[in-house]
Amino acid sequence: MTRVIAALYRVLYDGVLGRLPEPRAIAFGQAVLRALPFDRVPIFRRDDPRLETVLGGVRLPNPIILAAQYYDTAILERAMGLGFGTAAGPGLVNCNGFQNPGLEQIRPRLAALRHRVPLIVSVAGETVEDYLTLVTSLAPLGDLVEVNVSSPNTRLVYEWSSKPRELRDVLERLGHASPRPLIVKLSPDFAEVNEREIIPAALEAGVRIVNYGNTRRIDEPRLSQRTGGLSGPEIFPATLENLRNTRKRFGPSLQLIATGGVDTPDKVETLLREGATAVSYFTGFITRGPILARQILDALVAARAQK
Ligand SMILES: Cc1cc2nc3c(=O)[nH]c(=O)nc-3n(C[C@H](O)[C@H](O)[C@H](O)COP(=O)(O)O)c2cc1C
Repeated sequence: MTRVIAALYRVLYDGVLGRLPEPRAIAFGQAVLRALPFDRVPIFRRDDPRLETVLGGVRLPNPIILAAQYYDTAILERAMGLGFGTAAGPGLVNCNGFQNPGLEQIRPRLAALRHRVPLIVSVAGETVEDYLTLVTSLAPLGDLVEVNVSSPNTRLVYEWSSKPRELRDVLERLGHASPRPLIVKLSPDFAEVNEREIIPAALEAGVRIVNYGNTRRIDEPRLSQRTGGLSGPEIFPATLENLRNTRKRFGPSLQLIATGGVDTPDKVETLLREGATAVSYFTGFITRGPILARQILDALVAARAQK
């Protein structure tokens, strides 16, 4: 049955969604998610105690994460019922590159959100004060907090990777301000600097979870900001390589979330085998549809049953 749903979705994606310009495809997908209660259909989920994963001390029903993109809490609530062990939201606040309704509006909505699975609150800012404001206000409403220092569409967010000393201070202050464990979300564009400076700085600041990583920066003259983010299968080789190198270099001192280009159960199995604590994806949710999480969970249960 999951195969049939996956094949039908593929037809929908190839015939309609995939032909639309990305912003329209995303808007269309969001409208469908808001309108149709997929989350009430059990086929999209699979609960199995063998999949339980502990991330930063928080118990997740499985190691699959919906990566940060959605800030609409109606969609987040829906997504939380679609097989993911946790979801990252509400996108970000307080900077120019992000289209979202702002802290004042997001806070009450987030406070009202039912946590069907744990919630990762994702924040990004251009200044230390931005991050402190966001974390102080939003961290208590989530189970973990993801500090995005890597989105390429906002210059000052992206540039944190070139300021490891400042970043260490930000993370340390956030560690004191946050009642929840911190995750730092890195850019795959700075592999060498991440290994040499950023991850050690995060460890020094007390951060124990790294999400590797965000979209890759590409130059795109048609965009108003002249740059955009590349996601999807093209970036998977870098995701795998960064995971392997980071695990090798830092051993068990870190928990690692592998993100970038995941759109099949095989890729998830590979990343977990190579040392990922959890795996997250966003583009695969759009290109393969909500059934992908269930297909991944089935494959993971089958693999664990063989052990
Ligand atoms: C349209 C779009 C919006 C995104 N918004 C955010 C965001 O608000 N915060 C964030 O940390 N990452 C954001 N990302 C990055 C994703 O969370 C993810 O790290 C990246 O897309 C790579 O994973 P994927 O190949 O599975 O999509 C966004 C990605 C896309 C494509």
